[in-house]
Amino acid sequence: MKININGKISNVKAVWYEEPVIKMIDQKILPETFKIVDINDTKELFDAIRNMTVRGAPSIGAAAAFGVAQAAALGADIEEAGKFIKSARPTANDLFFAVDFVLQHKGDAKKYAAMYVDSIVERSRLIGLNGNELIGNNKKILTHCNAGALASVDYGTALSPIRMAKESGKKPFVWVDETRPRLQGARLTAWELVQEGIEHKVIADNAAGFLMERQQVDLAIVGADRITKNGDFANKIGTYEKAVLAKENAVNFYVAAPLSTFDFTIENGRGIPIEIRSEEEVKEVKGVAISPKESMAYNPAFDVTPNRFVTGYITEYGVFKSSELHTLKDKGKESIIEQIEDM
Ligand code: MRU
Repeated sequence: MKININGKISNVKAVWYEEPVIKMIDQKILPETFKIVDINDTKELFDAIRNMTVRGAPSIGAAAAFGVAQAAALGADIEEAGKFIKSARPTANDLFFAVDFVLQHKGDAKKYAAMYVDSIVERSRLIGLNGNELIGNNKKILTHCNAGALASVDYGTALSPIRMAKESGKKPFVWVDETRPRLQGARLTAWELVQEGIEHKVIADNAAGFLMERQQVDLAIVGADRITKNGDFANKIGTYEKAVLAKENAVNFYVAAPLSTFDFTIENGRGIPIEIRSEEEVKEVKGVAISPKESMAYNPAFDVTPNRFVTGYITEYGVFKSSELHTLKDKGKESIIEQIEDM
């Protein structure tokens, strides 16, 4: 992704590996501070995933893939390391997919981790090309959370088509849901769009319905943390209500994700484990209390949107309806692992 730090333009990925150190942009402290963090061992990686220094399903997967390679380089038991890394967060399929992929090639973990992460970047780019076909000139696009380059090593999932639209000369405009409680929209998506010079406005989470009803949203594109066999999908809390509002207001609602986010072992959204995070994330904003200390809070980090609200799934293989997802699974290859190896 292109970034501008104090007038200096550079190209940076959300996470990369310089053996034996995993490097990542600290996503907790953007946009105020741009900082690269060094991850020196499996425990530090576990903490970085859990405390969301690195976040977003494909970026979590990338960090985890490098984590297995790092454990191998440090002479650790990589099966144990993989198990521990997988326990950092429960919802994003990419975390499990990535660890399993590298463990299946443990003889050359470094090479396969690099191959995995390169394929995520390429898949994100292809999602952009495919999704760009759905975006006309001067369209207003709603997005939720951050499904940008920060969340997907580079390009993004939901933001990749918008980046491509801009690159191909269209003038996309983005409504950015602030995305309580961790504010990934207000902090991270807005930051990425500023870096790319894409026109946007941040909105309070509860403004989207008003804008849709006033015909100020042409389409919605969101990312996903896990998509099940029937197309139900988990994404950042608040996605479900946006999808319902989109249907009510005849706004096309797209989900953008690479194959690593699909979990064909689960029939429908009821089977997706949903992470429950700390009460403090709801009761505080940047460490400042906003609720009485006596009040309790409840903080589900994701919700599940049923497939009937999804117009299409934007993938690296094209755009699919929920009824067509089985063709994505079968893509003419025996396993998705082989598809990665072929990329
Ligand atoms: O809790 P987060 O910030 O990791 O949640 C991220 C999301 O919900 C993203 O929308 C999703 O991972 C897609 S990222 C390309």
